[in-house]
Amino acid sequence: MRLTYTSDLWWKNAVVYCLDVETYKDGNGDGIGDFRGLTQQIDYLAGLGVTCLWLMPFYPTPNKDDGYDITDFYAIDPRLGTLGDFVEFMRTAHDRGLRVIADLVVNHTSDQHPWFKEARRSKDSPRRDWYVWSDKKEPDDPGQVVFPDKENSIWQYDRGSGQYYLHSFYRHQPDLNVANPEVRDEIARILGFWMELGLSGFRVDAVPFLIENVEPKLADPHDFLADLRAFMTRRQGDSVLLGEVNVPYKELMGYFGDGLGDQVTMCFDFIGMQRAWLSLARGEAEPLASALKERPRPPKDCQWATFLRNHDELTLDKLTDEERQEIFQAFGPEEDMQIFGRGLRRRLPPMLGGDLRRIKMAYSLLFSLPGTPVLFYGEEIGMGENLAAEGRMAVRTPMQWSSEGGFSMHEPVRKMPDGPFGPERVNVADQKRQQDSLLRWIQLLIERYRECPELAWGTHTVIDSGSPQVLAHRCDADGASVVVLHNLGRTTEEVELKLDGLANYQLTDLLVDGTTEVSDKGAVRLPLGPHGCRWLRASPPEVAPEDASVKSDSSFTHPRRS
Ligand code: GLC
Ligand code: CA
Repeated sequence: MRLTYTSDLWWKNAVVYCLDVETYKDGNGDGIGDFRGLTQQIDYLAGLGVTCLWLMPFYPTPNKDDGYDITDFYAIDPRLGTLGDFVEFMRTAHDRGLRVIADLVVNHTSDQHPWFKEARRSKDSPRRDWYVWSDKKEPDDPGQVVFPDKENSIWQYDRGSGQYYLHSFYRHQPDLNVANPEVRDEIARILGFWMELGLSGFRVDAVPFLIENVEPKLADPHDFLADLRAFMTRRQGDSVLLGEVNVPYKELMGYFGDGLGDQVTMCFDFIGMQRAWLSLARGEAEPLASALKERPRPPKDCQWATFLRNHDELTLDKLTDEERQEIFQAFGPEEDMQIFGRGLRRRLPPMLGGDLRRIKMAYSLLFSLPGTPVLFYGEEIGMGENLAAEGRMAVRTPMQWSSEGGFSMHEPVRKMPDGPFGPERVNVADQKRQQDSLLRWIQLLIERYRECPELAWGTHTVIDSGSPQVLAHRCDADGASVVVLHNLGRTTEEVELKLDGLANYQLTDLLVDGTTEVSDKGAVRLPLGPHGCRWLRASPPEVAPEDASVKSDSSFTHPRRS
C-alpha cells in the first residue's frame, strides 16, 4: 500500500489517545493536572507511538459535569493554565509529530454561561432564542433522559422568565438552539478559533442531540453538520470531526453523510464495542464477528473509530437485556459497579480479573480491528478504577506515573485507587523497565498497527476458524494481506483456515518470531494458546515479508475502493 495515502488521510490509521489535562500531570504542585505538566509528558506520548491526542474539555467551567459544562468556549480553565501554556503545549506536540484534537461540546452550555444568563433574563432577551424554550412542560419520556441518576425530565422550569428550557443532559446544561443561524455562526467561530491555534479537529460531543433537539426543527439537520465540515475543510483541508454518535449502524451512516462522506469524518463504533464486550464475556467470537459483518463500510475517506473503554460508563445500551445481564454478571456483578441501569463504571483490567494474557489479547483485538483505535489514558499501563469516586469519575483518576503516584508534588485532588491497581503495582516507571509489561505490549501493537496500514485501510473479511472461541479475520489492500487470530477462550485451540488467493504464501508472525507456510491448496493450520493472539503478514515466496506491504504506484489519486 502506498504510504503517502496515510499522510494525506492521516486519520484513517491514526492512533488516538484521549486524556484529560486535569488528571494527566500536575506541573505546578496544586494537585490538579495542567498544560505545563502535560507538555512535560509529550515525549512519553510520542514514544508510546500514538499519533493524535484528544483533549477532554479544558475550558472554563463550574465543573458540575467534569468540564462538559462550559462557561467560555474561547478560553482555558485557569486551573489548567493559560492560553500561553496551551500554545506552548501545541507547539511541543507538533514538534514531536503529534496532532491534537479537542472536545467540542456545543450541544449545550453551562447554565452559568453568560449567554444563558442573558437568555433567561427575559423572554425578549436578544439571546433568548439561543436556547430551546417551551411554555408548557412537555410530557416526560424516560427514554429521553440520559442521566437517570439525577434527572427524570429533560425540561426545567425557569422561574424568572416563566418558561421551561430543554436540557438533554443535566439540568445545569441548557441545550443550545442550532436552528438559530447566529448560534451556528458562533459554533463555526469556535472551531475556527481553536484551529487557528493548531487543532487538527474535534471530538464532537453528543452529535445526535446537537442536531435534533432544536426549535423549530431544521428542514434537514444534517445540513448543519455538512456546513460545519465544509467550513473546516475550507480553512484546513485535513481537519477532522470525530463524532460521538451512539445509534444503530443504519441510522449512523447519515452522520457520515451517507455516500457523500461530507459530515462527520469518523464515528465511534459503539455497536462493535458492545459486541466485543459480549464476546469477551462469553469467550466466543460470534457476537463481535457478526458486528463486523453487519458494520457498513464508511464512505470514502471516512473511518470507524474503535475503542474498548472511554471516559464515560461502559455503555451496554444497544444490547438486549439478557446480553447486558451476561456482561454485568461477568464483569460487574456488584450494584456499585453498574451505572444508569445500562453500563459499568469500571476499567478493563479489573473487569478481566487482572489476567495479563487476556488483557493483552483484548488490546491486540482492538488494534487489529478495521478502524482507528482510540485509547483512554492509562489503558496502556492497565490502570483500574476507583469505585470510591462518584459515578463516571471512577475511571477518571490521575495518571499513575510511578510507584508513589508521580502525578503531583502535592496531594492529588482526585484520588487514585488503592490495592492491586493502585500506583504501587501499576505505573509507567516500572513498566518501562519490564519487557513483558502491558506498556511494552501496547507499544508493540501500535508499531505493528502503523506498519500494517491494510488493517485500517483494507477490506476486511471474517474467516471461518472452525472454532467458536477463535475470531479470525483478514485485511487486504493493494494485493497485500494481514491475517489475524484471537482466541477468546481459556483453552488451547488449533484452527485450520482457508486463505483464498494465498496458496504457497508465507505467513510471518508480527508479534512473536515464527513463520508458517500456506499449503498449495491455500490452507493453513495454526495453534493458539489460551487467550492467544497472532498477527500474520502474508508474503509470496519471492518477496521478503517486510516488503510485502509497501508497494508504491505512480498515481496520486486514491484508489476508489480497495
Ligand atoms: C457526552 C460525554 C459525557 C458528557 C455528556 C454531556 O456523552 O461523553 O461525558 O457528560 O456528553 O456533555
Ligand atoms: Ca496544577
